[in-house]
Amino acid sequence: MLNQKRVFSATPYFDEESINSIAGEIKSALKSGILTDGPHVKGFEKDFAQYTQTEHAIALNSGTAALEIMLRFFDVKDKEVIVPTNTFVATPTAVLFCGGKPVFADINAETLCIDPEDVKRKINPKTAGIIVVHIAGLICPEINELKKFCRDNSLFLIEDAAHAHGAVIDQKKAGNLCDGGAFSFYPTKVMTTGQGGMITTNNSELAVTAQKMRDHGLNPDRIMVMLGDNWCMSEITAIIGKYQLANLENFIEKRNEIAKYYERYLAKTKHISLFQTPSNIRHSYYKYPIRLNGIDRNKVAFALKNDFGIDTGSIYYPPCHLHPWYMSNFNTQEGDLPVSEAVLKDVLCLPIHLGITNETAAYVVDSLNTCLSRLSDGK
Ligand SMILES: Cc1ncc(COP(=O)(O)O)c(C=O)c1O
Repeated sequence: MLNQKRVFSATPYFDEESINSIAGEIKSALKSGILTDGPHVKGFEKDFAQYTQTEHAIALNSGTAALEIMLRFFDVKDKEVIVPTNTFVATPTAVLFCGGKPVFADINAETLCIDPEDVKRKINPKTAGIIVVHIAGLICPEINELKKFCRDNSLFLIEDAAHAHGAVIDQKKAGNLCDGGAFSFYPTKVMTTGQGGMITTNNSELAVTAQKMRDHGLNPDRIMVMLGDNWCMSEITAIIGKYQLANLENFIEKRNEIAKYYERYLAKTKHISLFQTPSNIRHSYYKYPIRLNGIDRNKVAFALKNDFGIDTGSIYYPPCHLHPWYMSNFNTQEGDLPVSEAVLKDVLCLPIHLGITNETAAYVVDSLNTCLSRLSDGK
């Protein structure tokens, strides 16, 4: 009989002290009657801008809204935007909702992030810009090369930083590397507000536009000056965000410790390759991906779940261009993006979150080793 316990692949974390403080502040907000566009949203924006060292942070009700507002600001209507096929479907979908066409680019097999060489092959006179996604919390190591390429070709460069709160490259935070950063605070993310999002930018014109666009396109005199929507964050959401942000450095430190543990005990494991982090990058470890060699990922995931109660994930499979909707509406097909197709089907993400103790990490490593030896023996 296996000593089975349940290990989630991702789960939000709130310590008792934060829960009590959040509950107290929510109570005061409810009594005050100010539930949107109040001091907590402004405070959270100020703290987030300070944390990312950007001039502006604009709080929203989702990461998708952050992408959509920036794409509307850069006016992608009837133009093309290059996005990695390895991302959550929200990235290309945001381009479509702004009237643009997402063009999928392949990835670098070592980083799982967009491949700058494929980007260069895909630009044409219709290209308006590029979205880079810091996959799993690894800032795209070629970000400076992409930035220079965009500058030289008059293209915008947006960071989809939904995985990368607090990730750093060369002392600079994710969200402060290009024209604008889009963060998500979905419950699985490195920090959460339940639902929520944030734009970070040093572009004042983008910041002012985002403030209007999130509020039906209204200016401070309540006159509609552009097309907008209701993308505002509530005061309750901002209260949660403020406490999560205050703990973010601690969250990242803990995630890095778990990653180090996995690295130490899996480095020499047969059938597994680990992904390396360049020394100038601090990973945020939203996910801990490993690559399986010669063993079916789905069989390993099934055995871990079924026999050991361990949830795992993919990042991302299928890649966007192989989702049936894109295949039928954009004629994308297998063979279009060969590196993504070859690599992503073998990528398995191990549980990583604040609830993973050394003991749980050891249980994951031992269970994985058992599954691999069983499956490699054909059992
Ligand atoms: C890479 C990426 N982009 C965009 C999003 C969209 O964020 P949200 O769910 O907050 O709209 C997500 C979130 O799941 C994501 O992982």
